[in-house]
Amino acid sequence: MTDQDIDPATMRKQYRSEIVLEETLAEHPMDQFALWFQQAADSHLFEPNAMVVSTATPDGRPSSRTVLMKQFDGRGFVFFTNYASRKGRELAENPYAALLFPWHPISRQVIVTGTAARIGRDETAAYFRSRPHGSQLGAWASEQSSVIGSRAELDRRYAELDARYPEGEQVPVPPEWGGLRVVPEAVEFWQGHENRLHDRLRYVLDEGEWRVERLCP
Ligand SMILES: Cc1cc2nc3c(=O)[nH]c(=O)nc-3n(C[C@H](O)[C@H](O)[C@H](O)COP(=O)(O)O)c2cc1C
Repeated sequence: MTDQDIDPATMRKQYRSEIVLEETLAEHPMDQFALWFQQAADSHLFEPNAMVVSTATPDGRPSSRTVLMKQFDGRGFVFFTNYASRKGRELAENPYAALLFPWHPISRQVIVTGTAARIGRDETAAYFRSRPHGSQLGAWASEQSSVIGSRAELDRRYAELDARYPEGEQVPVPPEWGGLRVVPEAVEFWQGHENRLHDRLRYVLDEGEWRVERLCP
């Protein structure tokens, strides 16, 4: 390894923020998420809808990657991807997933655990049609997570599709592409504070009702 100029062990930030108390939380974690998501957006964070999705094979080998959360409501969080990708295949075999929203500039993170399921084809089609033409073609051009010989091969596939479906022409939804909804079983709201005395408030489903518990930081 080369010599490092920056030593991560010496990097330390003091977090200054309001204490999060149980009584101020919404009853439903998705309402609390809506509030924090709005505050993250108001703070002009770059892509506050970017989240890390972790999946695992049936024998417990984990993998993570960033995706963009595109919809959320009382049912959960939706992102769009290729169902034949690594994450898509892992979730088909083992639906347990974790999501992490890393809102570092405002000293917050939200961590969700739950199960993922495909959304309806009509819902996927509605979102696909709202995407820019180039992104629609890109979804066809890329067999996500498979090995490809070169960049040129990818560009050639895209050019072929662009010739077949020029701008203005309707692009069909790729059969292997669509939305996945992560339905939460637990949602942790983390707020950083000074002296590492952070707030960690976790909603857990308890016989169909959401209960909040506080975790040590
Ligand atoms: C900011 C950001 C946003 C991304 N958004 C998505 C997305 O919404 N859907 C997606 O399939 N991949 C997205 N990616 C790419 C994924 O991180 C990943 O490379 C890809 O989905 C293949 O992952 P897999 O091989 O583990 O399945 C995004 C990457 C970054 C850095």
